Amino acid sequence: GFALLPVFGNVHASSINTSSGWNMPVGVTDISQEVFHLHMTILWICIAIAVVVFGVMFWSLFKYRRSKGAKSAHFHENTFVEIMWTAIPMVILVVMAIPATATLKKMYDTSNADIDILVTGYQWRWRYEYLGEDVSFFSNLSTPREQIYGQEARGDFYLVEVDEPMVVPVGRKIRLLLTANDVIHSWWVPDLAVKKDAIPGFINESWTRIDQPGVYRGQCAELCGRDHAFMPIEVKAVSEEEYTAWLASKRDAAMAEAQGADREWALDELMARGEGTYNTYCAACHQPDGKGLPPIFPALAGTGISIDPNARQAHIDIVLYGKTGTPMPAFGTTLSAAELAAVITYERNAWGNDTADSVQPAE
Ligand code: CUA
Repeated sequence: GFALLPVFGNVHASSINTSSGWNMPVGVTDISQEVFHLHMTILWICIAIAVVVFGVMFWSLFKYRRSKGAKSAHFHENTFVEIMWTAIPMVILVVMAIPATATLKKMYDTSNADIDILVTGYQWRWRYEYLGEDVSFFSNLSTPREQIYGQEARGDFYLVEVDEPMVVPVGRKIRLLLTANDVIHSWWVPDLAVKKDAIPGFINESWTRIDQPGVYRGQCAELCGRDHAFMPIEVKAVSEEEYTAWLASKRDAAMAEAQGADREWALDELMARGEGTYNTYCAACHQPDGKGLPPIFPALAGTGISIDPNARQAHIDIVLYGKTGTPMPAFGTTLSAAELAAVITYERNAWGNDTADSVQPAE
């Protein structure tokens, strides 16, 4: 199913589980298998039609060629032929439409789901919110884009991976609610036969039930800006016990993150955290060296945003609430207090801006 992606230099071909590399994947859900067989049935019907139509055409060209003295026939109409070439395609279309409609009906039936996950597309990452479970997180690129470009320049193949996959238990019906924060994205995982647009202001629905444990990969399938090629999707299907343990670990991590706001952080701890946060959320536009891409993406390095308390507060407000009329989104619901403090500390001290100084989460 990912046969085309290695052409774009996106995915390590050997690590993708495909049926043949030429066809769409059979996939790992009832729906994906049904879609595959439907596709094969229709393909064979089309091949049969092509063989008959082109067969008759080439046979006629050969049999009635002029060198054999054939004369063209002259007639005005033939009611029988006209009825047949209307009726036969109609019957073929109806024959194809019956199983196709049944499959579509099944694909659209999101009722009686066991688990509801809200999937939100951002430029350029996915966010998964497990409704009713108090678990939500961003699924970011695991390797910074710049590093991937470096590998590409050396001609290496690589796998674009995420830091945190969407984890689901096998054998349960998962309802996916899809939306977007900024522009239209599309959540596409070929092995699940799910490809659904994530549109700002709308909630689209889809569902899946995976029977085989494993990691299933996908990619944003709607051109959504510069890093569209760097919005990978990873769905990890695990046993029920592993899923329960994973949910608990996500809750613990969220708890620890919340507690990070109450304690004193060491400067190097904030710097390390801030660098990661900066590279994940800020570097794409403001550049890894903080010099920005003026005039659209202003420089952060050497601007004194952290020396003058008013400038710093204005900067924090922009980070929290975004800036209307510019591409700067609001990070207020994205960043925790600790991440915000860390990234401000990092901007204050990286790139030789200022003297070493930290900003604590409690500030
Ligand atoms: Cu998001 Cu393309």
